[in-house]
Amino acid sequence: MLVLGIESSCDETAAAVVADGEEIRSSVVASQVLTHEKYGGVVPELASREHLRKIQPVVEEACRQAQVTIHDVDAIAVTEGPGLIGSLLVGLVYGKALALSLDKPLVGVNHLEGHIHAVWLENKMARIAGKPVAEAALPAVALVVSGGHTSLFLVEASSHAADHPGRVFTYSQLGRTRDDAAGEAFDKVAKLLALGYPGGPIIDRLAPFGNPLAVDFGHIKMKGNPLDFSFSGLKTAVLYRVRGTELAKEAGERRAWRKTADRPSDDDLRAHCAQATLDLIASFQKAVVQDLVERTLAAADACHVDAIFVSGGVACNSLLRQRFTEATRRQGLQAFFPSPALSTDNAAMIAAAGYYKLLAGERAGVSLTAHASFPLGANRM
Ligand code: KG4
Ligand code: ZN
Repeated sequence: MLVLGIESSCDETAAAVVADGEEIRSSVVASQVLTHEKYGGVVPELASREHLRKIQPVVEEACRQAQVTIHDVDAIAVTEGPGLIGSLLVGLVYGKALALSLDKPLVGVNHLEGHIHAVWLENKMARIAGKPVAEAALPAVALVVSGGHTSLFLVEASSHAADHPGRVFTYSQLGRTRDDAAGEAFDKVAKLLALGYPGGPIIDRLAPFGNPLAVDFGHIKMKGNPLDFSFSGLKTAVLYRVRGTELAKEAGERRAWRKTADRPSDDDLRAHCAQATLDLIASFQKAVVQDLVERTLAAADACHVDAIFVSGGVACNSLLRQRFTEATRRQGLQAFFPSPALSTDNAAMIAAAGYYKLLAGERAGVSLTAHASFPLGANRM
């Protein structure tokens, strides 16, 4: 079954063709980084307009790269939420119109479910290619960590009872951020320090040059559900360390320099960072990573599962991958990450998640609509 996936929940317009939920024939992502860069964050109105401009060429390019025509596609899977409503609507209406005009089945996919499916998709592809990787088996605890989300889920699967050969996935929410998402905290700290946008990858590349023990941010304390997250306090702690100090002066100079420097290299940027700035971001990154790893391991322990899936843009973070790999190995657990291209927003993950819904007989009609807020699974905690 060839599924065309369409994703437009935030600032990437993406389309992909995936065969049988396990073979990526194409995955095209049009990034809007250049549009939002100068604002240091995604501007919703500009994002919707960019999606409108890109959606058709991106879908056409996905078909071209997969060497199919739109008529060869068997079904269409589209992100229905959560995300920016104006952005979501562009992909959703486009997918709906395609399905109606071509008389193809349509399913709506939760963006977070897509991120979780990216882990299986990649794992299945690696195993089919004969790579010596362990099977990403269920049940698992999934951490979805990006610019918009930081959530923990228990993911379980059962075989579909009736005459459909698919598996049915169930999700229980174990925890979520009460304020900023982890990626958002990375982006805001980078903006404060005039390091560039998006901040996560920049901090990831600069942090190895700083001392992660220079600033002790302590543990993030949570009242109530210990599997919830909160990063706004940490972000404010960074702000207090910067405001009115040499670091703020230096950030101001860097901001002025960045306006004249056209896409500075990492070396150039590092040369414009005092050691104290590098130490601060290394310490900040360590605090975020430590919190994500500790709460996810606690969730795995509470749910008695051996597998941990980590996905979403922040799953690209080198220190996060390293710490998860070390900690899970020590505890006899297994951590699974998608490759960076499948960790950040893409449509292959939407097509892969949609495939199982289609197998299970799910179909969306013309009433399918976008939801800015769209919880995945029942609340367990
Ligand atoms: O999943 P994604 O592409 O979009 C959302 O659904 O938000 O994630 C984007 C987020 C941004 O906040 C970005 O700064 C962060 O992921 N990110 C990273 C890294 N790469 C992307 N954060 C930390 N380290 C990275 N290497
Ligand atoms: Zn995402």
